[in-house]
Formats: sequence, structure tokens, C-alpha cells
Amino acid sequence: MKTVRVALIGCGGITLQNHLPGLALCPETRVSALCDADPAALERARQQTGVAVASTRFEDIVPREDVDAVIIATPNHTHAPIARAAIAAGKHVLCEKPLALDAAEARELAAAADRAGVRHMTAFTYRFVPAMRYLAAVVARGDLGEIRHFRCCRLQDWGTRNLGWRQVRRLAGSGELGDMLSHRIDFAHLLVGPLRRLVADLKTFTPVRGGAPNDTDDWVAVLAEFVRGATGVLESSKLASGRNESWRSLDSVELNGERASAVYCTARWNELQIGRAGGPGLETVSVPREYWVWPGSPRDPGAGDPLVTFRYDQAFEFVDAIRQQRPCVPDFHAGARVQTVMDAVVASVARRSWVDLGDYA
Ligand SMILES: NC(=O)c1ccc[n+]([C@@H]2O[C@H](COP(=O)([O-])OP(=O)(O)OC[C@H]3O[C@@H](n4cnc5c(N)ncnc54)[C@H](O)[C@@H]3O)[C@@H](O)[C@H]2O)c1
Repeated sequence: MKTVRVALIGCGGITLQNHLPGLALCPETRVSALCDADPAALERARQQTGVAVASTRFEDIVPREDVDAVIIATPNHTHAPIARAAIAAGKHVLCEKPLALDAAEARELAAAADRAGVRHMTAFTYRFVPAMRYLAAVVARGDLGEIRHFRCCRLQDWGTRNLGWRQVRRLAGSGELGDMLSHRIDFAHLLVGPLRRLVADLKTFTPVRGGAPNDTDDWVAVLAEFVRGATGVLESSKLASGRNESWRSLDSVELNGERASAVYCTARWNELQIGRAGGPGLETVSVPREYWVWPGSPRDPGAGDPLVTFRYDQAFEFVDAIRQQRPCVPDFHAGARVQTVMDAVVASVARRSWVDLGDYA
């Protein structure tokens, strides 16, 4: 295929930190158009990229003939309308997580993208951590035996600062649940499979952040049972004082299988800890080099900070799937499955009871 021409819709934090440098590594790929509702953000991105085609309206950018694919990196409430427009125009779509505001909307997007025959991908970026890919391989080849427990913990210290659109439920859908736990629900699906049922709680400790109202959750916890019978315990917080942020804070997954346990930590991108049943305890196991980059990615794992650059493989996966005319991993269905669990979390909190996930999850 000729050069893949990508439009960036939303030129804020994640586009500058992740999507732009990721696309820059992709062979025969160029950013052909920019869109941001904020003229100042749009101008910054124009200066940074030198891309001349720019608009504050996605409706002007998405249908353009010089756009083959769009990356949607806007606040959560805009994902569905922009993705719908892109699918209707026959464009391939990489959409940030959470895919939509609820599961019905997310499933509708997945079905529409399938019908249109476009490539579709949800930006569950942490799947691209080498140690997570290796953990998935270790589980798939049966090293741990049948999994009994999935446990994950995401603890950050965001204090009480203003989070902009992220602290307005109408714009974000949810707080910590969609922002951070959505990635870890995706880990659970990747490693252990679908959930059967769950009970959950959400808590807002900070009704005011940086002088503005916050009606989203700061903390979320889920107790779950997987379809295969394993148990799940998931927790995520923005208010773990002293824990720092981003990859300098805790992001861990532990699996306990009948033969062995494995511990993953995002900050330790090239190792796992594995302990055999009846053995002396956890031992550090290096992630083999073939897992250090996504298959086929031209990224040099020795260039830059590997805790930043693993994210660039996401853009490669999107563009490579377009070129090879194969499904992206993870796709919109993965995004919709996570959204189904998020809806169940909200329902469980409202009902103060266990919720069954049904068929789609
Ligand atoms: N995958 C990840 O690891 C990851 C990390 C950070 C953010 N995200 C997701 O990326 C998305 C953006 O987050 P961010 O941190 O970059 O936010 P941000 O606020 O820094 O940037 C969003 C940009 O979108 C623009 N925008 C708002 N409405 C728009 C519209 N209708 N059309 C075009 N532009 C519009 C804003 O002006 C802003 O510049 C969110 O969905 C977030 O959940 C994902």
C-alpha cells in the first residue's frame, strides 16, 4: 500500500507524548491533517509538526480524501461521535480509551466498524509493555497452570489538583474507573478471559479539585469471578499519597495459578517474578529479547526511555494492520468488552450488589 495518511483528532497531552512520536517511527506513514477544538492547541501542533491542513472541526478533517486513517485523542464524550463519522467516511480508526461512554455505544461502534470493513483499534497502551506481552505468552503456554487468582493494583498520587474535563462525569463518563482501571480490566481479559460476575465500589474523596467541582471517582475496587472460575481483585486510586505518578508509581498484576505464580510491574518492563508451587519463592525472570518490541516494529528498544517508548509500538500496530488488511490488536471489541465491565461496576455500585456480566463480556 501507498503511504498511510493519518489525521490526528485532538492535539493534547497523549497525542504529543505518544501518537506523534509513534507515527514518526512507522515506515511510509505521515500525518496529513490536524484537528483540535482549541485554536491554541491546534496552532501548537501545527508548529510542532509542520502539517498545514488543520481545523477546529473534526467534520472538516475526517472525510478528506488525503486522510486514510484517524487517531481520536479527545475527551471521552467525543470519542463516539468522531468515531461514527470516521467509520461512515470509510476511514480506519484508532480511538483512545475508554472507547465510549457506555457499553451500548461501544458495541455499536465495533459493529459499525466491522460492517464498514475498516481497521479499528482501542488504545489499551499497556498491552505493549514487553513484560505484559511476555506474561500473556507465559500464561498461554500453560506455565502457571489453571489460573486461580488475578490481582491488580494501580496506585498513584494525583493529590487534589484540577483535572480539567477528567473531573466532569458528563465529559469523562467516570473517573479512575475509565481513566486507569479500564487498562487493567483489559489485562484481566487478556490474561484470564471474560468475567462472569462482579461486585464493586467507587469513592470520591475530593468533591472539589483545584477549586472546581469533581463528580468523578478517585478510587475504584472490584471483586470478580471469571467465567473459567478464577477470582479477581482489582483496585485503582488517584489518592495514594507519596506513590508518585505515571510509571514511577505502582502498576502491578499478580497471577496465582495451580503450578506457579507470576508478578508483573510496569516499571520493571523487562522482567517478571515467577514462583513455582512448593518452591522457595519468587525469582526474577528476564523477558526474552524477542518480546522487547512488538512483532515487526522498527523501534530500537535501546533508544530513549523504554518506559516511554514501548507506547510507540501502538501506532505501528495500527498502521501495520491497515497495510496488512488484518484486524488490529486490541480492537474495538476489546474496548467494548472493557466498557461492559465498566457499566457493570457502575450498576453494582448503584444496586449495592453483585452483577452478572452476560454474554458479551
Ligand atoms: N492510552 C493511554 O495510555 C492514555 C493516556 C492518556 C490519555 N488517554 C486518553 O486520551 C484522550 C485524551 O487525553 P489527553 O490526556 O490527551 O487530554 P488533553 O485534554 O490533554 O487533550 C485533549 C485535546 O482534545 C481537544 N478537544 C476537545 N474536544 C474536541 C473535539 N470535539 N474535537 C477536536 N478536539 C477536541 C482539546 O482541546 C485538547 O487539546 C482521553 O480519552 C484519555 O482517556 C489515554
